[in-house]
Amino acid sequence: MVEKGLLPSRFLFYLVTISMFLLILSSVFLLEFRNTSIIPTSVFKLFLVNSSSADIKPNVRSEQTTLPLIPSGNTQINSERSMRSGRLGCQVTNSSREIYSFGKQRNIVCDASQALLRVFMYDLPPEFHFGLVGWKGKVNQTWPNVDNPSRIPSYPGGLNLQHSIEYWLTLDLLSSNTPNVVRPCTVIRVKNSSLADVIFVPFFSSLSYNRHSKLHLKEKVSLNQILQENLVKFLKGQEEWKRLGGKDHLIIAHHPNSMLDARSKLGSAMFVLADFGRYPGDIANLGKDIIAPYRHLVRTIPNRESAPFHKRPILAYFQGAIYRKDGGIIRQELFYLLKDEKDIHFTFGSIRANGIKSAGQGMSSSKFCLNIAGDTPSSNRLFDAIASHCVPVIISDQIELPFEDVLDYSEFCLFVRGSDAVKKGYVLKLLRGIKQDKWTRMWEKLREIAHHFEYQYPSKPGDAVDMIWEEVSRKISSIRFKLHRNNRYSRSQFRLQNDSSS
Ligand SMILES: *[C@@H]1O[C@H](CO)[C@@H](O)[C@H](O)[C@H]1NC(C)=O
Ligand SMILES: *[C@@H]1O[C@H](CO)[C@@H](O)[C@H](O)[C@H]1NC(C)=O
Ligand SMILES: *[C@@H]1O[C@H](CO)[C@@H](O)[C@H](O)[C@H]1NC(C)=O
Ligand SMILES: *[C@@H]1O[C@H](CO)[C@@H](O)[C@H](O)[C@H]1NC(C)=O
Ligand SMILES: *[C@@H]1O[C@H](CO)[C@@H](O)[C@H](O)[C@H]1NC(C)=O
Repeated sequence: MVEKGLLPSRFLFYLVTISMFLLILSSVFLLEFRNTSIIPTSVFKLFLVNSSSADIKPNVRSEQTTLPLIPSGNTQINSERSMRSGRLGCQVTNSSREIYSFGKQRNIVCDASQALLRVFMYDLPPEFHFGLVGWKGKVNQTWPNVDNPSRIPSYPGGLNLQHSIEYWLTLDLLSSNTPNVVRPCTVIRVKNSSLADVIFVPFFSSLSYNRHSKLHLKEKVSLNQILQENLVKFLKGQEEWKRLGGKDHLIIAHHPNSMLDARSKLGSAMFVLADFGRYPGDIANLGKDIIAPYRHLVRTIPNRESAPFHKRPILAYFQGAIYRKDGGIIRQELFYLLKDEKDIHFTFGSIRANGIKSAGQGMSSSKFCLNIAGDTPSSNRLFDAIASHCVPVIISDQIELPFEDVLDYSEFCLFVRGSDAVKKGYVLKLLRGIKQDKWTRMWEKLREIAHHFEYQYPSKPGDAVDMIWEEVSRKISSIRFKLHRNNRYSRSQFRLQNDSSS
């Protein structure tokens, strides 16, 4: 009887041991062959993202010596990226051991087949781009050498800088072919346009407007107009443009008045804009175009210097011009409503270059920064506020915000309808009603997301350049979706290919 009872329990013991052994063996096996198709790469990348995120400091900017592999401390963006099945790992594909080598800077050539976006850039003559910033290359040299970040041609300073998006994106494309520049592999420039997802038009349209739209002596047309005319002629003659009637072309027109002459002729392309204020809806709209942040003018406040609630004596800060048009009425009304409050800074006059420093100091000493619609729905003031970690109060019903598909602005901004803002006591009551803990939550979120609005060279994961490329990639995929649906029946395909106007 005793032996009879012993046998099954020993048997059970062996059975459990053997199955545990098999279990462990199979998981080791699965891990060993993680690069084969046994586990979908997206699952593996998810695992990687999570397990490695513990090694990442929240502030990307503070760790310049480490390889910027993972976009940022922003979990929202991380999961967004990892959902897109593994694009994140573009630098990791050849050897996944690379991901464990944090702390060592490495020069990694991005692999075009793994990049999120492959971009073809026209080799337009320098007069369309770096020639406008005063760069002169050797005979027949189209592009400056960008392998030394301290020796790239610089963009004119002052207020020009707010619309310098064209410059940062072009530099990033150039650097994607420069092996010793470490940057995210989100986008890569390809030399064969048949392999490209997007065709980039390297025209510095905002600078062209800012610098060359005034007529000089004897001139009948401005240089800005001539460049736009030539650009339209050039594009309409390209095979790349004819392919999809320009729908896969990316044109930067960040200054609201840039591309004024050419925009309707090139309206089928994707634009990178500040807002839609001065565009008819058929030429620019959220369906195809991208809103990019202004480059902020005030200094970025490092997180460790950012003043908390009780060290920001000013309740609300506003500095700007009065316009007679639309939004200007709200500015005036608000001025009369708020001017007698001691802890509110409200002055008129646009900030000139020398006033930028004082504006920066004012914003970083304020709890709230007002962004009131002017003659356009957007302005660089919002991005100055974000760089100062001053909670933006957005009073601009028509505003469009950059990257709003991945950022929830209500976490770090207050929105007030124009009709409410002009009610007596409304804004004041709202701001005074936000106590330290609520304000601090918004401020902490600001500190977390501020790096998404930084333009820099070389680009870093999750910065403004990187975010714009990701936005382009999402947009182009929905544009292609529409194109492909239209192609379902050969008749409509026939019509589409011949019709470049819509
Ligand atoms: C990562 O792990 C945390 C817990 O450590 C979990 O809450 C989160 O959902 C995981 N995220 C992903 C993307 O797997
Ligand atoms: C990846 O590996 C393949 C072959 O192993 C090689 O041809 C290719 O150049 C490598 N790519 C990178 C980006 O190192
Ligand atoms: C520059 O380009 C022109 C036209 O393509 C060519 O004739 C000329 O030889 C080139 N000059 C140099 C220095 O490469
Ligand atoms: C560009 O790519 C296409 C498609 O792969 C190929 O047919 C063509 O030969 C390539 N052109 C050049 C110049 O390499
Ligand atoms: C459409 O385009 C094709 C090829 O480019 C051309 O042969 C055809 O004549 C065009 N049809 C019309 C109606 O324009």
